[in-house]
Amino acid sequence: MKATTYLVFLGFCIACGHSECPLQLNPSTVVVRHGHSAFANCTATEEHDGMGWEASQGSTEYPDSVSLQSPDSRGQMVENKRYRLVCDVQNVAPLRLLTIKLYKGQLEIQNSTYSDKDIKTPESKQLVVPVSHRRGDEGALYRCEAMLNLGPDGPQPPAVVQSEPFKITVQYAPEILHQPQIAGILAGADVFYNCTATGNPVPSIEWKHGPAKNVQIQTSGAVSVLRISAVTENQAGNYTCIAINSLGETREVFTLTVSRGKKDAARLKFQGV
Ligand SMILES: *[C@@H]1O[C@H](CO)[C@@H](O)[C@H](O)[C@H]1NC(C)=O
Ligand SMILES: *[C@@H]1O[C@H](CO)[C@@H](O)[C@H](O)[C@H]1NC(C)=O
Ligand SMILES: *[C@@H]1O[C@H](CO)[C@@H](O)[C@H](O)[C@H]1NC(C)=O
Ligand SMILES: *[C@@H]1O[C@H](CO)[C@@H](O)[C@H](O)[C@H]1NC(C)=O
Repeated sequence: MKATTYLVFLGFCIACGHSECPLQLNPSTVVVRHGHSAFANCTATEEHDGMGWEASQGSTEYPDSVSLQSPDSRGQMVENKRYRLVCDVQNVAPLRLLTIKLYKGQLEIQNSTYSDKDIKTPESKQLVVPVSHRRGDEGALYRCEAMLNLGPDGPQPPAVVQSEPFKITVQYAPEILHQPQIAGILAGADVFYNCTATGNPVPSIEWKHGPAKNVQIQTSGAVSVLRISAVTENQAGNYTCIAINSLGETREVFTLTVSRGKKDAARLKFQGV
């Protein structure tokens, strides 16, 4: 936060008692650093009964705090669901010079100005933005900033107060990386089926298959490999991988077909089959 205070006079000079009083104020707005002096000319273009000044303006107040949160998610957002991001700007004045901006990474996604609000005492304002995400948005950083633009005579670039960054995680149902089916397995060969899933939370993996002693499963996180050593013809069938997390489950079926190995074929031939 800046230690400097700027005063903004959006001057009124008062002369005649009636409303149709042609007055020119030059310049019409004065921005001055605290402790420095400023000048403005008030000119009446018609006869008048006397002139005076009314000090109608206070000083600018940079916000006490700028914070960003999502009251309905705490940063854990389910894919494609809508949530609100709320940027809260505490005690800022004057409102008509305020712009609140919301950024996703480097991209400004929304802003709000209050130029119609002729309020000079410090006020608090909220910018509420609906958001929804795809899984690729995982880890996205939002931040919000409050800018007081005091015009060309004020600080350049205009003073900005930023929120802490707000990081989101995107939760989604499991997805299994599709693997090509393996054809032409010969009896006696070793077979591997690789089931690799993604999802948030990290899915757990289960396999469904017929009972067999020569089947081994090795799972690490969301990657699971099923190994059949020296496969036999009667082990043909479906080996189903199931990836499960709190948002759902996904299945991938590996269909095993086994043809007679060369040895078997030779033996069968010898036996005259
Ligand atoms: C106000 O008017 C006086 C006299 O015309 C001039 O010298 C002065 O520069 C003006 N000041 C401003 C701030 O316009
Ligand atoms: C606010 O957003 C509008 C469009 O949404 C854009 O044209 C404008 O430049 C933005 N204002 C500021 C001060 O960034
Ligand atoms: C399984 O497949 C994934 C994705 O294609 C690959 O990264 C991984 O190395 C594979 N694991 C094994 C044991 O084949
Ligand atoms: C194996 O899976 C396929 C494809 O999912 C299905 O059409 C078939 O009925 C299944 N066979 C058995 C024996 O479950």
